[in-house]
Amino acid sequence: MYMAAGTTAVGPAPISWVRAAATTRRPFDGRRRRSSWRPESPARGAVGIHSARKVAQGARSTAMAADGEVKNIHTNDSTKTLLKNEALYEYMLNTMVYPRENEHLRELRHITEQHAYGFMLSPPEEEQLLSLLLKVMGARNTIEVGVFTGGSVLAAALAIPDDGRIVAIDVSREYYDLGRPVIEKAGVAHKVDFREGPALGHLDALLADEGNAGAFDFAFVDADKGNYGNYHEQLLRLVRVGGVIAYDNTLWGGSVAMPDDAPLTEKDREVREAIRAFNARIAADTRVEAVQLPVADGITLCRRVV
Ligand SMILES: C[S@@+](CC[C@H](N)C(=O)[O-])C[C@H]1O[C@@H](n2cnc3c(N)ncnc32)[C@H](O)[C@@H]1O
Repeated sequence: MYMAAGTTAVGPAPISWVRAAATTRRPFDGRRRRSSWRPESPARGAVGIHSARKVAQGARSTAMAADGEVKNIHTNDSTKTLLKNEALYEYMLNTMVYPRENEHLRELRHITEQHAYGFMLSPPEEEQLLSLLLKVMGARNTIEVGVFTGGSVLAAALAIPDDGRIVAIDVSREYYDLGRPVIEKAGVAHKVDFREGPALGHLDALLADEGNAGAFDFAFVDADKGNYGNYHEQLLRLVRVGGVIAYDNTLWGGSVAMPDDAPLTEKDREVREAIRAFNARIAADTRVEAVQLPVADGITLCRRVV
């Protein structure tokens, strides 16, 4: 996600970060979570794809038709995707995600949710997916492009071995400073090598050391979308053959499939075009085996094959 400009995220959350209770919906575990824009509400005009503003969502299909007829869940006329409405997402969170959420990740989530840009935090089901993936891979050395308060960094730090290392890059140390006490409390701060500044430069610096070629098992990219293609080229040299690069937000709130003239903000339109171009590029990239997951805001996993 793009960096929120002009923020001063240092120390305990100032009152300006704290959303007025009247405007904050707390649907599940009493905490605010990532909201989403839906094309079903065009009358609302250009709503930010990712914002704290909650937009009504229309369920796309139900087993019970309006006339009361009970229909098969799967038919040739239905699309085979599961997350059809918020109730299903709520069910998933309450039955599987929240009960299994690591206590430190939960604390960091709760702290981050008070931040004006708290929606930038990866949701817990995404953290759990990446954590499991890292463990399955036996990953030791990883890269994070886009740290924010450190949610995905903490998930990775908890998943890799004690001598593992995460090169964590963000233009803002202020965000990371907000989450770092939780990472320390979790006992995994020694695995995090935080580097402040634009990621392109830091990745180039890593590449300047030949010893880093193919030295990383995994990378998670969750920063400026316009540079995803550039990060891909850099990371393909840093991540080993057989390693995985994961890209976040590759469905950008569903906007990639919306009509070109859908009412989007200028920023969302710009990001959507960047994501569309990136997705097309990955689809044609024979250097990776790629899969698009409709998890969270869309995650693309690329396994380096050459
Ligand atoms: C969506 S947030 C990252 C969220 C984090 N991965 C998580 O799971 O909670 C995006 C972050 O990318 C950072 N960012 C934006 N542009 C960047 C750039 N060019 N280089 C490095 N970091 C950047 C922003 O400061 C922001 O903290």
